Amino acid sequence: MLLVIGATGNVGRPTAETLLRRGATVRVTARAPERLVDLARAGADLARLDFTDPTSFAPALDGVKGLLLVRPPELSRVEEGLFPLLDAARAAGVEHVALLSVPAAERYAFLPHARLEARLRELGLARTLLRAGFFSQNLLGLYRPGLDAGALTAPTGDGAVAWVDTRDLGEAAAAALMEPTGDERAWTLTGPEALSFAEVAARLSVALGRKIQHSPQSLPRWVAALRAQGTPWEQVAIFTALQLVIRLGGEALVDPTLAQVLGRPARRVEAIADTLPS
Ligand SMILES: NC(=O)c1ccc[n+]([C@@H]2O[C@H](COP(=O)([O-])OP(=O)(O)OC[C@H]3O[C@@H](n4cnc5c(N)ncnc54)[C@H](OP(=O)(O)O)[C@@H]3O)[C@@H](O)[C@H]2O)c1
Repeated sequence: MLLVIGATGNVGRPTAETLLRRGATVRVTARAPERLVDLARAGADLARLDFTDPTSFAPALDGVKGLLLVRPPELSRVEEGLFPLLDAARAAGVEHVALLSVPAAERYAFLPHARLEARLRELGLARTLLRAGFFSQNLLGLYRPGLDAGALTAPTGDGAVAWVDTRDLGEAAAAALMEPTGDERAWTLTGPEALSFAEVAARLSVALGRKIQHSPQSLPRWVAALRAQGTPWEQVAIFTALQLVIRLGGEALVDPTLAQVLGRPARRVEAIADTLPS
């Protein structure tokens, strides 16, 4: 039995869909499992799992040999929030964990992803570290309001991003779970090319058949716009730090591993156009 925790999420859902397509025995979880009835219809076992409710762990972990763990973005204190689940997984006989992480996590011990990677090592669980770059699907979240109005607005300057599609990440996670390693495997997973926001706007204009204008923004205006939407300061700080990282070239690394795992080229950023109105 393979377990996908957080199967309603950006990466969890395509992981579960791929596993089901490939004929694996799969259990999927969410805090409200009724959101997963379509996956149940496709053959998945359903369970409720809430990291804050340890009584939900045992039924979800029963018979599980491998699982996908995605840290919810709002959960930074992983020692309290996610370590208990990992302890329970080991006690329940889970052998392999695929963890959604970030590139070079081991160099940034302050990151929750680094602390999760280290915990898996401490527990002696076999692990695949899915060290994913910046998601193409972020364009459908953080940058979405402008996009719908025909503008890609960001304070990222000429900073390029190796945009990776979460559907590809889901396929890679499924491959990791179906062909587990016995110790540690770290995959840096990025898209096929590094493109600036101006270049993305041009690509999306062609793919959608309507003009998407790149609209550069200053950092203070970016912060003011987020605050005006009611975004809490803590999130504003995280989102703004990310824009700075991009501006400084920190998301530009292109790595060939994803295409090797998939056995085909990774999706280009404009592949998200099929989920946007033309
Ligand atoms: N965005 C990026 O560019 C990027 C790049 C690399 C790595 N990452 C990392 O990827 C992770 C986020 O992945 P994602 O975008 O796939 O996440 P997501 O779409 O926000 O999904 C998070 C999942 O966690 C579940 N969840 C939330 N709270 C829970 C709780 N208390 N108990 C159990 N499940 C809970 C949610 O399910 P329910 O709400 O349905 O229960 C949901 O399915 C973060 O760790 C982030 O740092 C992001």
